[in-house]
Amino acid sequence: MNRETLFLNATQSTGNLPTSVSTNSPTNSPASSLKNIDKNTVKNEIDNVASHTPTNLRTINTFMKRKTHMGKKAQIGLSDAYQSYFAQKNLDAILAMDIEGIDNLRALFNNPKQPLTLEIGFGMGTSLVEMAKADPKRNFVGIEVHEAGLGNCAFLAGEQGLTNLQLISGDALALMKQLPKNHIDTVQLYFPDPWQKKRHYKRRFVNTGRMAVVAQVLTDGGIFHAATDWEHYAFWMLEVLDGLAEFNNVAGKGAFLPRPNFRPLTKFEQRGINEGRVIYDLMYKKLAKKTG
Ligand SMILES: C[S@@+](CC[C@H](N)C(=O)[O-])C[C@H]1O[C@@H](n2cnc3c(N)ncnc32)[C@H](O)[C@@H]1O
Repeated sequence: MNRETLFLNATQSTGNLPTSVSTNSPTNSPASSLKNIDKNTVKNEIDNVASHTPTNLRTINTFMKRKTHMGKKAQIGLSDAYQSYFAQKNLDAILAMDIEGIDNLRALFNNPKQPLTLEIGFGMGTSLVEMAKADPKRNFVGIEVHEAGLGNCAFLAGEQGLTNLQLISGDALALMKQLPKNHIDTVQLYFPDPWQKKRHYKRRFVNTGRMAVVAQVLTDGGIFHAATDWEHYAFWMLEVLDGLAEFNNVAGKGAFLPRPNFRPLTKFEQRGINEGRVIYDLMYKKLAKKTG
């Protein structure tokens, strides 16, 4: 099946994907099979993390809060003039990553019935703003912990006058735990921190426990879309997600999705391409629970 046919089938079967936006498609495409990594090793590493991760001790974060230079746009984006882009309505709450009370993302919008996408870890926000601009009939919520990224994204959204984008400062996992079930149509995770060292694998966003939380907030038929430029993490995600009963791999079990053209190039994707890495997309549809 060629790239176009596969993606056409994917979009037909999901029915709730964002409409297309143009982008510079990278020319490198995913390998169909493991090249440098042994599948059984990945499986063992996943099992190892699952069995050694304490469930009721301290929370293991998927992020490392970085202090980076706050550019001019980010500073402006965090000022009072841009507070309407944040679900938290005051700067103290934004800086404290205080998500208390945010328990309904649809209620953040004037058109709450529009399809809803949540982007986890949007970085500087350029691609999220591009997606929101290209698809005004869909609401987008972006969540980040990186202050400069939050400010930059609010600034860009304001420049475009977007009314279908809201930002949240905080941990996506904590947020999803306080949302209703069957709430979000698409959850997207583009170029998540790869946590390459073995001892850090437990911080990878995609694991069985965290994906159970994602599955809970997705609507039936909802989409989880991830992309990465790290081969090991790509096959790790494939192994975890293909093994979950709640999800169906849109590209077919064991397969990656050809790069969809609605996903704009992100900063980290560009970095990966510049450094010669291959880009992997994965897309999963949440299956409706069988009754009876
Ligand atoms: C490698 S960067 C990728 C940024 C962007 N998606 C891109 O492709 O350019 C990953 C981002 O995810 C954010 N992140 C990681 N875990 C998160 C979490 N649990 N909640 C919110 N943001 C998170 C990090 O702060 C970081 O900015």
